[in-house]
Amino acid sequence: MKGNSKVAVVVLAAGKGKRMKSDVPKVVHLLCGRPVVGFALDAVNDIGPGEVVLVVSPASEMVREAAGPDIHCVEQPEPLGTGHAVQVALKEIGPEFEEIIVIPGDSPLISGATLQALLDSRRGEDAAAAMMTVELEDPSGYGRVIRDADGNVKRVVEEADASEEERAVKEINACTYAFERSRLEPALETLTTDNAQGEYYLTGVVERYVAEGSKVAPVPSPEYEALGINDRAQMALAEAFIRRKVNGALMAEGVTLVDPDRTYIDYGVEVGRDTVIMPLVFITGGSRIGERCRLGPCTAINDSVVGDRSSVEFSWLDGSEVGEDVNVGPYSRLRPGCRVGPGAKVGSFVEMKKTVVGRGSKVPHLSYIGDAVIGEDVNVGAGSITCNYDGEKKHTTEIDDGAFLGSDTMLIAPVRVGKGAVTGAGSAISEDIPDGSLGIERCEQHNVPDWREKKKGKGRRNK
Ligand code: UD1
Ligand code: CA
Repeated sequence: MKGNSKVAVVVLAAGKGKRMKSDVPKVVHLLCGRPVVGFALDAVNDIGPGEVVLVVSPASEMVREAAGPDIHCVEQPEPLGTGHAVQVALKEIGPEFEEIIVIPGDSPLISGATLQALLDSRRGEDAAAAMMTVELEDPSGYGRVIRDADGNVKRVVEEADASEEERAVKEINACTYAFERSRLEPALETLTTDNAQGEYYLTGVVERYVAEGSKVAPVPSPEYEALGINDRAQMALAEAFIRRKVNGALMAEGVTLVDPDRTYIDYGVEVGRDTVIMPLVFITGGSRIGERCRLGPCTAINDSVVGDRSSVEFSWLDGSEVGEDVNVGPYSRLRPGCRVGPGAKVGSFVEMKKTVVGRGSKVPHLSYIGDAVIGEDVNVGAGSITCNYDGEKKHTTEIDDGAFLGSDTMLIAPVRVGKGAVTGAGSAISEDIPDGSLGIERCEQHNVPDWREKKKGKGRRNK
C-alpha cells in the first residue's frame, strides 16, 4: 500500500511477558518455526511505512536477532507501561513522520489491511486516533472500550481498574492504533501512574482526547487479529491459525495434504506441485521439497532438501540433501551432512551421518554408515556398518563405484573399498581392498558331525 511514507510504526516489545513463564522473551517464541515478532513486522511491511521502530528491553539480544538487522530498535530502560514505551520510541522518530501507528509485538495475526483501515479511518474522520477494537465472547484480561450513549469512545479501562459493570463489556482494545502525531505527544505528557498497575498506560490518551474535544475513531476488526501471545494456550491457538494458513497456501499451489490438520509445515518451507503429504509429517526449518514427492506418514524433515519424485516414509531427515527419484525408509534416519544422489535408496532401519551416497547406490537394510563416501551403483549388503569411531577420532570410509558389500560387512575406518571390489559376507575389513578384488576376512568354518545326536544323549545322562 502506498501513500504511507510519512507514517512511522512503533512495535511494542519491551514488556516482561510474565504469563509465558519463560526465559525467552515472548516475541521470540516460534510459531510454525518463525518468531512471533516476524509476523507482526510482516503486517507492518504490508502498508509500506517510512519508518519502523521496535521498542525493546535492555536485555534484548534475542529480540533484536529475531527482528533482523534492518529493524531500528530503541531501548526502553524499564517497562513503565505502554504509554512510556511509545514516548521512548517517539524520541527516535524524525519530525517528518506525521502519523504514528502503534502495534504490540506479541500479536502475530494482525493484518496489513487492518492497519490501513486504521489510517483511513483516522484521516477520514479527522480523529486524533483510530483504535482497533474487537468483540470477544470472553474479554477477560483485556482493556475494555467504554462508549457513551451515542456510541462514541469515552475511555479504555484496564481489567485491573474496571468496575463490575465495565468488566461485562465485550468490546476490547487491541492495543493497535493510528495517531496523529501532533496530538499524540502532548497527550502522552499528561499520563500518570495513578492506576492499579502503577504504569503509564497508553490507553490514558483516549480520555485526554475526549476531554479536549478530539475524536477517537473505533475500528472494529476480526476477532482473531487481536490474539496476543500472553501465555502458552494463546500461543497454541495462534500456531494452529498460522498452520492452517501455511497448509492452505500449499494446497492452493497444488500440493496434496491428505489430512491438513495433522500436517505440520513451517512458515517458508517450499513444496513442489503434485507432491503428496501423508499425515503426521513435520517439515521444518529451511526445508525444500520437490515436485511429485511422496512424504510420510510419520516423517520429520528438518533443514533438508528432497528432490523431485522422491519418497520418504516413516523417517527422519536433518540437515541433509536427497536427490531426485530417491527412496528413503521406512524407518531410516539421515543425520546432518548426508547427500544422497539421484536414484539411490536408503532402505529400512538405516542410519547415516555425514555421508555421500552416489547415483543409483543402495543401502537397503539395517546399516549404520557414518563419515563415508559411497560412489555410484554400489550395493551395501544388509547389516553392513562403518566402524568410523575408534573411541577418540572419527575416520572416513570410501566405497568406490560399482563395489558390492556382502551382508554384515564391518568396515573399520579409515579404509577404502576399491572400484568394483567385493567383500565376503560377515567380514571385518580393516585393510584397503584394491579395485576389482574380493576382500574376505573370516575364520575357516569347522563342522562337528552328528552334533545334534550327541547333544541329545548328553542331556539324558544329566537327568
Ligand atoms: C494492553 C492494553 C490493553 C489491551 C491489550 C491488548 C495498555 C495499558 N493496555 O494490555 O488495553 O486490551 O494490550 O492485548 O496499553 N510493552 C512495552 N513496554 C512496557 C509495557 C508493555 O514495550 O512498559 C509492550 C509489551 O511487550 C507488549 C505490549 O506492549 O507487546 C502490550 O503490553 P502488555 O503488557 O501485553 O499489555 P496488556 O496488559 O496485554
Ligand atoms: Ca498483551
